[in-house]
Amino acid sequence: MVSKVKTVRTIQALRTALKGAAGVGLVPTMGNLHEGHMALVNASVQRCATTVVSIFVNPLQFGPGEDFDNYPRTLCADTAKLESAGVDFIFAPPEREVFSPAEEAVKVTLPSLSRLLCGRSRPGHFDGVATVVAKLFNIVGADYAFFGEKDWQQLTLIRSMVRNLNIPTTIVGVPTERSADGLALSSRNLYLSDAERAVAPALYQTLCSIRNAIRDGDRRYRVLERHGRQTLDGAGFEVDYVSVRDAHTLRNPGTGTERLRILAAARLGRARLIDNIDAGAP
Ligand code: PAF
Repeated sequence: MVSKVKTVRTIQALRTALKGAAGVGLVPTMGNLHEGHMALVNASVQRCATTVVSIFVNPLQFGPGEDFDNYPRTLCADTAKLESAGVDFIFAPPEREVFSPAEEAVKVTLPSLSRLLCGRSRPGHFDGVATVVAKLFNIVGADYAFFGEKDWQQLTLIRSMVRNLNIPTTIVGVPTERSADGLALSSRNLYLSDAERAVAPALYQTLCSIRNAIRDGDRRYRVLERHGRQTLDGAGFEVDYVSVRDAHTLRNPGTGTERLRILAAARLGRARLIDNIDAGAP
């Protein structure tokens, strides 16, 4: 029998409910849950005695003109999914509970890595993510927190924040969930028209062909990036970046690089799509 998930709106109520709990897993989300989120949830339920899923559309991580107002808010449908997955608590606070209207917010400023790649076209985005994630870590006091590898730069920055601020939460990265045609699952896929949806898997295919070239011994990373960009331009994407990076530092691959990651971001109609894959050792 599936036990009932409890939805909690306040920090005080969540802390009371979690008092004395050991092995707490946190899955931070902005809701509108799909199979990608559920992979994080399942990882937490399997590993942790108690799982908390936070659902909070964080205003700090949306830039001007981005989709904060229109971001899908689907708490009822999300609750049903989380209940059948065996989640213990949904933390769904109103905005004033997280950011007090009474005082100016203290914000986390991340290192320069936050201004590369997605950070170049979304100034302040990762600082906004880190600020709310740090708050969630302090509110929940989780032993483990689960993040998707699809947001590789976010995952890398959160690992860095946890190390730097000595936050006693272990970060677990969970592999990207994909549709059968390779498109990474994302809430923003909803914005794709049927025609755009048919084109969208080209993003993953482009990453795979760069990875295959690297596996075949091609080390001309800049050339491979340029070809990837041209392929995507030709398919109708407005490309932000296609980049081969050191998987851990997200800097250009250098002598110390042990593992490569290929990352891309591109707009297709209203949707800004991101994806990344492992490309092995250099
Ligand atoms: O990945 C997300 O959905 C968000 O950036 C997160 C981690 C929930 C913070 O708002």
